[in-house]
Amino acid sequence: MQPTKSVTSDTRAPTEAILAWRNLSLDDINDLISIANEIHPDLPESIQVFSERINLFPEGCLALEASTSDGKITSELCGYAISHPIIRRQPPALDALLGEISPSADQYYIHDLALLPKARGCGSAQEGVGKLLAIAARYETTALVSVYNSAPFWNRFGFVAGGTDEVLERKLREYGDDAVFLERQNGNHESMARGNTRVV
Ligand SMILES: CC(C)(COP(=O)(O)OP(=O)(O)OC[C@H]1O[C@@H](n2cnc3c(N)ncnc32)[C@H](O)[C@@H]1OP(=O)(O)O)[C@@H](O)C(=O)NCCC(=O)NCCS
Repeated sequence: MQPTKSVTSDTRAPTEAILAWRNLSLDDINDLISIANEIHPDLPESIQVFSERINLFPEGCLALEASTSDGKITSELCGYAISHPIIRRQPPALDALLGEISPSADQYYIHDLALLPKARGCGSAQEGVGKLLAIAARYETTALVSVYNSAPFWNRFGFVAGGTDEVLERKLREYGDDAVFLERQNGNHESMARGNTRVV
C-alpha cells in the first residue's frame, strides 16, 4: 500500500508520520474502539458490532495507520472505515449486529469513516473513500448516513439525498437530528457488468 502525505504524529513530538490505509484486523479492535469513543461519543457502538463487520466483510473494513521512524518503526491507528453490502435503503440500526451479509444485498453501505483530528486535512479520508468506492463499484449504488453536517464532504463524491421511508427515518433519528441518508450512483457499475466482472 502506498503511503499518503505525512503529518505530525503527536503535538508533543515533532516526528513526521506516514499515513497509509490497510485492512483492519481484530487485533486493531481496542484502538478502533478508543477512536470511535473519541469521535462518536454520542453514537456508541459495541465492540461486537465492529468485530462482526470485520469478520463478515473484511475487505470493506480499513485501518488508517500512522508510522513513524526514530530508529525503529512505531505504528499507531489514527482512523478507520467500516463498509459492507446491504439490501437497498435498509442500513443497520445504530449499534446493531448484522448476523450476515444478506445474499440479496444490492447496495454498498459506508457505515463509518472516522479520523482522529491530527490525521485530518492530508487527503487520507478522500483516499479511503476512493478505496471503498472501488469495492462499491460491484453494486449499482452506495449509501451512507451522514452525521455532523458532513454532507458537503460526501457531495464531493457524488452522494446526494436518497429516498427514505418510515423505517429508515426511525433509524436515522438514532443517529441524531442532523442525520441524513445519502446515496450515490456508482458510475462504473454498468461498464463492469458489461465487461463480465462478477456483480454480486
Ligand atoms: C469527515 C472526515 C473523515 C474528513 O477527513 P479529512 O482528513 O478532513 O478529509 P481529507 O483531508 O481527505 O479531505 C478531502 C477534501 O474534503 C474536504 N472536506 C473535509 N471535510 C469536509 C467537510 N466536513 N465538508 C466539506 N468538505 C470537507 C477537504 O477540505 C478536502 O478538500 P480539498 O481536496 O479541496 O482540499 C473527518 O473530518 C472526520 O473523521 N470527521 C469526524 C467523523 C465524521 O464526520 N465522519 C463522517 C460522518 S458520516
